[in-house]
Amino acid sequence: MKGILLAGGSGTRLYPLTQAVSKQLLPVYNKPMVYYPLSVLMLGGIRDILLISSPRHLPLFHTLFGDGSHLGISLSYAEQPHPGGIAQALTIGADHMGADPVTLVLGDNIFHGPGFSHLLRSRLSQVDGAVLFGYEVSDPRRYGVGEVAADGRLVSIEEKPAEPRSSLALTGLYAYSNDVIDIAKNLRPSPRGELEITDVNRAYLEQGRAQLVNLGRGFAWLDTGTHDSLLQAAHYVQVLEQRQGVRIACLEEIAYRMGFITADQCRELAYGLRHTSYGQYLLDIIE
Ligand code: G1P
Repeated sequence: MKGILLAGGSGTRLYPLTQAVSKQLLPVYNKPMVYYPLSVLMLGGIRDILLISSPRHLPLFHTLFGDGSHLGISLSYAEQPHPGGIAQALTIGADHMGADPVTLVLGDNIFHGPGFSHLLRSRLSQVDGAVLFGYEVSDPRRYGVGEVAADGRLVSIEEKPAEPRSSLALTGLYAYSNDVIDIAKNLRPSPRGELEITDVNRAYLEQGRAQLVNLGRGFAWLDTGTHDSLLQAAHYVQVLEQRQGVRIACLEEIAYRMGFITADQCRELAYGLRHTSYGQYLLDIIE
């Protein structure tokens, strides 16, 4: 299973925060936003990851993560010359995928919940078609929306419908088998001129090969698309981290717990950061 992390888009809804900085590098409490979706891929056991961003911002992500080897993963980078829709990531990432299935995560999506790593690993181990992750929200009109029949089967998918058929938003986490490359390459651009991920998902739905995983109400899927939701996401992370004394999306910790790096390697990373609270947290975990 390969991973793709899409950190593109122009972030216009967050202007002027995003005038000079990539949206996905804005802070969510104490980490850059992109840490959270990268942690999702890592928790899913995915170690070969392509990060896609605009030519202007790509070097910043490289400064942040390098080749990923310190985290026991392999990170490569590709440019999205112009924002052309989420599904464009699948054509840009075709070489990276090779003959493998892929998990695509959007660089501004934050997921947190019990048993997430286990859920991901079990759902990503056998992907035939599309595996989509749904979450009940109060305002589904802002998202892709899935309609589910009484037996739990997905029956329709619409992008930002004016009159949603359900309150089940489709989150920015998608797993596909390798034939998604053909589907993405044959997509027709939407009226906005973009390759829509919803059209990819609908293609699988029409083939009877789209599965839905409902994340359930004990789970948090947080939005960062508006100033208010960005602040709320930061508060969510702050409250949980301070209450429980754990860190959400601490990549070095995840790399260690997933067995991507050894305790000694993690200790060395922590030692380099020992003058920061982040490094102290890591040292505590190792000791
Ligand atoms: C995109 C997708 C939408 C999905 C959302 C999740 O919307 O088009 O289907 O629900 O991501 O974050 P965007 O945020 O690009 O408007």
